[in-house]
Amino acid sequence: MKRRTPEKRSDGGVILGIETSCDDTCAALVTSGGEIRSNVIASQGLLHARYGGVVPEIASRRHLELVDAVVADALERAGARLEDVETVAVTQGPGLIGALLVGLSSAKALAATRRLPLVAVDHLHGHVTASMLGPGSIQPPYLCLVASGGHTFLARVEEPSSYAVLGQTLDDAAGEAFDKGARLLGLGYPGGPELDRLARDGDPEAFSFPRSAPGELDFSFSGLKTALLYRLRDEPGADRADLAASYQRAIVEALVARTRTALEREGLERLAIGGGVAANSELRAAVEQLGVAVWVPPTELCTDNAAMIAGAARFVEPLEYPGYLALDAAARMA
Ligand code: KG4
Ligand code: ZN
Repeated sequence: MKRRTPEKRSDGGVILGIETSCDDTCAALVTSGGEIRSNVIASQGLLHARYGGVVPEIASRRHLELVDAVVADALERAGARLEDVETVAVTQGPGLIGALLVGLSSAKALAATRRLPLVAVDHLHGHVTASMLGPGSIQPPYLCLVASGGHTFLARVEEPSSYAVLGQTLDDAAGEAFDKGARLLGLGYPGGPELDRLARDGDPEAFSFPRSAPGELDFSFSGLKTALLYRLRDEPGADRADLAASYQRAIVEALVARTRTALEREGLERLAIGGGVAANSELRAAVEQLGVAVWVPPTELCTDNAAMIAGAARFVEPLEYPGYLALDAAARMA
């Protein structure tokens, strides 16, 4: 994919970003200089809570109902009009195909009616470069740990237009491990924040959970939830807060150990974290102890959002009208 550097873009241009890869309907306005003018996130969390996970068909329908209003809200909060938008950026993938198609179709329509360029953004590129937005942002080279409900990986960012994946989960994502663990502990969905809260009252040393090491920089979390399942079966009276704290400790230690190894191996001195799990209180505290400069984004830039999509678009070559009309969403990116 052809990329471009931020210097090539004229000053003052506003990018409208749209993100609908999973269960959040998001729109944002970001300037070419990386200033976030608005960042609207309409979460569908409660809609899916009763099913214990995201139902793709329901997510797509809800995106369709919300996307126009969310875009209008993002414009209004930025004090901007559609005429002020210079470029439209949208998540092309990876994600739920039906959900992605809603955002992509909206973006095409918004761009095509005004013959604006469109930027197709890799959702993960968005997470990796979220740390480059706003005041106090970090610059490459840095290591980025992305841990969300759908993805967990370590990336080396040498320049803002690309990233190299150094290691990733071979099974469940870290957020998935949190959600599945929370479900076993009888907590609500999404379980990460609730497990985080419960763990504060527990002893992280009370139970020992497996730390699987599938590769130097890879992760594996599926054995962990099975261990919790067996523990609950064998010891039904076990203290829930102790279980939550010990389970969380195992996930955080796995993330932090690989991050430390990657920093050392790659000789990097800066670290950014992103993805929903970056909101975890124990992980946030643990990465501060790594002895490198750490960029821990505010929660609204960790979880899925459109500001990171518009932000990443600054470093990607735009597609001109009408070329992008044939663009398709991709459940998996090449
Ligand atoms: O990035 P995100 O909003 O959506 C995906 O792209 O997946 O991440 C959502 C994930 C969920 O699994 C949720 O349980 C987890 O992030 N999460 C947390 C916390 N807040 C959100 N996990 C652990 N501790 C938290 N405080
Ligand atoms: Zn995400």
